Amino acid sequence: MKVTLDGVPVMNGAGTVNAEALNASKAVVSLNGEKSAPRQRVTRTLNVSVIGTGYVGLVTGAILADQGSNVICVDNNPAKLEVIERGESPIYEPGLDKIIQSALRAGRLKTSGDLAAAVENSDVVYIAVGTPPSADGTPDLTAVIQVVNQIAPAIKKHITLVTKSTVPVGTGDLIENTLQDLGVDPNLVDVVSNPEFLREGSAVYDTFNPDRIVVGVNRPGAEIKLLELYGRYGCPILVTNRTSAELIKYASNSFLAVKISFINAISRICEQSGADVAEVAKGMGLDSRIGKQFLNAGLGWGGSCFPKDVQGLLKCAETTGYDFTMLKSAEDINNDQTSHFMSRLRDQLGTFEGKTIALLGLAFKPNTDDIRDAKALEIIDLLKAGGAKIRAYDPVAMPNMMEVHPDIEYKSGGQETVEGADAVILVTEWEEFKWLDFDLTASTMKGDLLFDGRRAFRREDVEKSGLRYFTIGV
Ligand code: UGA
Repeated sequence: MKVTLDGVPVMNGAGTVNAEALNASKAVVSLNGEKSAPRQRVTRTLNVSVIGTGYVGLVTGAILADQGSNVICVDNNPAKLEVIERGESPIYEPGLDKIIQSALRAGRLKTSGDLAAAVENSDVVYIAVGTPPSADGTPDLTAVIQVVNQIAPAIKKHITLVTKSTVPVGTGDLIENTLQDLGVDPNLVDVVSNPEFLREGSAVYDTFNPDRIVVGVNRPGAEIKLLELYGRYGCPILVTNRTSAELIKYASNSFLAVKISFINAISRICEQSGADVAEVAKGMGLDSRIGKQFLNAGLGWGGSCFPKDVQGLLKCAETTGYDFTMLKSAEDINNDQTSHFMSRLRDQLGTFEGKTIALLGLAFKPNTDDIRDAKALEIIDLLKAGGAKIRAYDPVAMPNMMEVHPDIEYKSGGQETVEGADAVILVTEWEEFKWLDFDLTASTMKGDLLFDGRRAFRREDVEKSGLRYFTIGV
C-alpha cells in the first residue's frame, strides 16, 4: 500500500479503509484485514462546492461546512439561496437548520449562483442536482450534463468532481468524455462516484452516522480528497471502481425495496392464514443474516428514491440484456399493496360513494414534507374515483399536497380530521398520531372503521373504544 505525503493511504484497487482510524493520530488503516503503521493526522482544510441544494446537496454542504471545510452551496434558484443565507432550510429536515446556522456563523458556509467562480476556487466539486425519471424510467441527466458544460471552462487547477446525485451506471464515464470533448485537460479532473445513502427525515443523523461510505474511482489516488473529508466518520470506506460504486447505490436501494415487498407479500399470506406479519417479521429479523430493518409491512414504499431507483436498475439490467424478473415482481407487489388495502376498506363500507374518509398523514413517510410517489396520492385517486369525500391532515406535507389536490378538505390536527368520518386511514405513521384519543375518535366519528396502513396502533387500544380495527398482514 502507498501513502501520500499527507499520510493518507492510497488504495490500489478495491479496499476498505476504517475512516476513524484514518484521521486519528494513532491511525490504524486496514486493507483487507491487514493493519498498517500509525499515520499522521490529516489537517488540510479543503474548499468544496456543492452544486444543487436539494436534500442531498444541502445536507452534504451544510455538514461538510460544519465539520470544518469551506463550502459554497450553488443553486440556480436565488430564492432558495436567500432562505439558506437567513439560516433556514428550504426543505423540512429535522436538525438541518441548526447545522446551517452554525456553519454560517463559523463563516464556512456560503451560497452562490455563480457556478464558475465557485468551481475555480474549489478542491472538490459535488454534483447534487436532480436526476428525475424520464418517460422511459431512465434517470434524466439533463441537469447533470448542464452542470458539466458550465463548469468545464472554470477548471484551471485540479478538482475532484464528485457525483452525489443518483446517476445511472456509466455516468462517470459520460462526464469524463463530455469534459474531454469540451477540451478540459484530463489531468485536471478526477471524476469520482460517491453515492449518498441518507434517508429523508433522518438525513442529518444518517450523514453523521453512516454505515459505510463508498468512493468509486478510475485512477489510483483519485479518492484522496474524499478520504480527507470523510476521515472523521467512524465507518468503513469502500474504495472501489467507479462503475461498481454507481451500481452499489442502485443495488442497495433496490434490495431494500425488495425486502419491503417481500414482507408485504408475506403480509398477504398472513391475512389469509391466521399468522401476524409483525410477529413473522420479528422472528425473521432476529436472524442477524436477515436483520430487522425494512421489514415493516404496510402500504408499500414510495418517495423520490425507491420507485425511481428500482426503475433505473430495471433499465440498467435491460441494457445489459438481463431480465430482472425478481425486481419487476417487487415493483408489482408494491403497486398492488395500496389497492388491496383500499379494496378491504371498500368491502367494509360497501361503497366509497358519498362516504367521508379521514386521512392521517400525507407524506411518503414521517419527518418529511415530501409527497413524491407517496401512497397518499394513490389513496386519494382511488377515493376520488369512488366518489368519497376526503379530509386530511399532515403535520408538514399539506402545502405540497394542496398544490396537487386543492379540492380536499385540509384540517389542522388529527383529532379534528376524524370528526364526522365514516372511516379513518392512517397513511403516514407520524409520531403525533400515536396520541390519537380513540375514545374521543369513536364518539366524534360517524362510522367506526380505523384502517391502519402502517401497523402503527395497537389493536387492543383501538378496539377498547368500540372502533373496528383493520390493518396490514393480520
Ligand atoms: C432511501 C434509502 O433508505 C436511503 O438509504 C437512500 O439514500 C435514499 O433512499 C436515496 O436514494 O436518496 P428514503 O427514500 O428517504 O431513503 O426513505 P426510506 O426510509 O428508505 O423509506 C422509503 C419507503 O419505504 C417509504 O415509503 C417507507 O414508508 C417505506 N418503508 C420503509 C416501508 O414500507 N417499510 C419499511 O420497513 C421501511
